[in-house]
Amino acid sequence: MNRHPRARWALAAALAIVLSACNQYAPDTIFGAHSQFGHDVDQLTRRLLYMGIAVFVLVETALIFAVFKFRARPGAPPAVQTHGNATLEITWTIIPAVILAFIAVPSIQTIFRTQSEPPADALQIEVIGHQWWWEFKYPQYNFTTANELYVESGRPVAFALKTQDVLHSFWIPQLSGKRDLISNRTNHLWFTPDSIGAYNGFCAEFCGASHANMRFKVFAVSAAQFAEYVAHQQTGPVYPVPVDSATAVKTTAAKGAKPAPAPAPAPALTAAMTNTGTWPLDQLPKHVIPATPLPPGSVDTVAGDAARGAAFFKTAACIGCHTVKGVSFGVIGPNLTHIGSRTTIASGLYPNDHAHLVAWIKNAPAMKPGSQMMALGMGAAAAGGYTDQQIADIAAYLSALK
Ligand code: CUA
Repeated sequence: MNRHPRARWALAAALAIVLSACNQYAPDTIFGAHSQFGHDVDQLTRRLLYMGIAVFVLVETALIFAVFKFRARPGAPPAVQTHGNATLEITWTIIPAVILAFIAVPSIQTIFRTQSEPPADALQIEVIGHQWWWEFKYPQYNFTTANELYVESGRPVAFALKTQDVLHSFWIPQLSGKRDLISNRTNHLWFTPDSIGAYNGFCAEFCGASHANMRFKVFAVSAAQFAEYVAHQQTGPVYPVPVDSATAVKTTAAKGAKPAPAPAPAPALTAAMTNTGTWPLDQLPKHVIPATPLPPGSVDTVAGDAARGAAFFKTAACIGCHTVKGVSFGVIGPNLTHIGSRTTIASGLYPNDHAHLVAWIKNAPAMKPGSQMMALGMGAAAAGGYTDQQIADIAAYLSALK
């Protein structure tokens, strides 16, 4: 049987390619769920798939058998002509009914299980969709954050989903299925994360220019870490923390400018401050680190001074839109109280570092089409733009808001 060695090799190669695709790094998958909701849906999907395969094989076998067994042969008598067969018709009505019962029972069970009322002790989170970012409120703990969600592994979490403007859809592929955010009503979704992990979230309903840029991160942490996170979020920003000050002073000195005013002495770091319950940056899985490229030419060259940035922030346009607890009260844009402890900016689009913050403040619409965050740089703003130094200072201040 070695008549077609090349064909065999080609077949083997094709098979290898197909199988290797199964082993790709695909973190944002709905398969291999990390919540009870996901496991329930997975189980139902597999069950229906296997039953479908069984039906397919039976039907196709019968078909192929009939085609070969009863095909026309030379000299064969004409086929028997029949009209109506009660037994046959009852049989082929009952078989699909039985198949449908096998589909309906587990489907309805899964629907009832996943759409039931959440347990009373569930973590409550209010999700508000905005063009194009996510607001997260924790009413039980009385704090608000944005674009990065912390939940507790093993504890049910119940979301109340609303939108500030157009329709959005809340989707964390690894944790649970999508649910829409609909104007003038509240939708609900709850699930129980079953493992510690970091996951990507997406908007899954077209909502305008930056729909594809409306992302978020979800961190499922231990109960102890979640308690720390909550305690930290309930405080005002832990500021000042000497983040950029060392480099900032060095750079401004090199430029011959006036030395920056020394930041107020940092309070002695307590356990809560050194560990804010947030996901350790050096342990971020690579799939939650955004790789969106910066717009060309937006490299920062000026180091910022956090203390100077703090003073400037209070007089800058920022306060009109953003809340920093105890400092400003804007509600149009994301709450920035603990922005320095988030891993990303611009709703999960860019890593949260100095270069990206500076570029964002200078010209956000260039980094996220349609963004309501206005361009504040000299080059982009029509009038009243900020200097590179002022923007670097604000960035340094924001990075310090742990
Ligand atoms: Cu929000 Cu798409």
